[in-house]
Amino acid sequence: MTKRFTTADFRKAKKENTKIKMLTAYDYPTAKILDEAGVDCILVGDSLGMVVLGYEDTTRVTMEDMLHHIKAVSRGVKHSMVVGDMPFLSYHMGAYESVRNAGRLVQEGGCQSVKLEGGEEVLDSVKAIIHAGIPVMGHLGYTPQSVNVFGGHKAQGRTLDSAKKLFEDAILLQEAGIYALVLECVPYRLAEFLSNKLDIPTVGIGAGAGCNGQVLVTSDMIGLFRDFTPRHNKQFVDMGKLLSEAVDKYIIEVNEGVFPKEENSYTIDEQVIDELKTLI
Ligand code: KIV
Repeated sequence: MTKRFTTADFRKAKKENTKIKMLTAYDYPTAKILDEAGVDCILVGDSLGMVVLGYEDTTRVTMEDMLHHIKAVSRGVKHSMVVGDMPFLSYHMGAYESVRNAGRLVQEGGCQSVKLEGGEEVLDSVKAIIHAGIPVMGHLGYTPQSVNVFGGHKAQGRTLDSAKKLFEDAILLQEAGIYALVLECVPYRLAEFLSNKLDIPTVGIGAGAGCNGQVLVTSDMIGLFRDFTPRHNKQFVDMGKLLSEAVDKYIIEVNEGVFPKEENSYTIDEQVIDELKTLI
């Protein structure tokens, strides 16, 4: 049986100074490929809203959207830890509601852990979810669900006050019992400082190489989502271009009758056709 990457492996990675490799997935085939490639952790991120559902930001993503995609990803994964993102407003209406929603992602969706954004303001929810036996991954820095508060996609923690707040929130989350912390769009010197100060591992996106692991939005790193490319992204392959080229070829081949060939078709006994002709 394949061993699953667990919260204990997150701790071990930090202790042994091995980098944690995390990517997002939203569907069964992609999840299967990432899992088989050996990614430690697959995040069903609410980036789903933009890169799959075509929304402007993550605030439109619902529990039902997340559940639908977490279920698909979970079916494709054997080794990686699957983390389900808690969508906007699913953990802001008290501990009871937060545990209920986190519980749905695990119980109905099949993920092993949940991620939620924010520090001190969501601490009660974090504690309640962990108390219920669900591991929580934190998320600080640029937290996309607060895009309307930030006034756009901006790096966070650049001033002394905001760097201090980030540090204090990270400590509070660690004390509350989170097993790992995503740092998004945080200056790399600050992310490195936080990673060295914290006992739990940090996973960076736009936070430099000093984090204990890295995460990217898969649709960005394979060039499939083309509306907006964040500065921190590295495109490892241009799947958008490959897909366009494949579709162009398909259109030409269908127009010219090159596709389908006999090998792409199903056969029938000629006698059946002959008999059919006599009937109609
Ligand atoms: O939703 C998401 O994909 C995320 C990553 C950017 C960490 O939260």
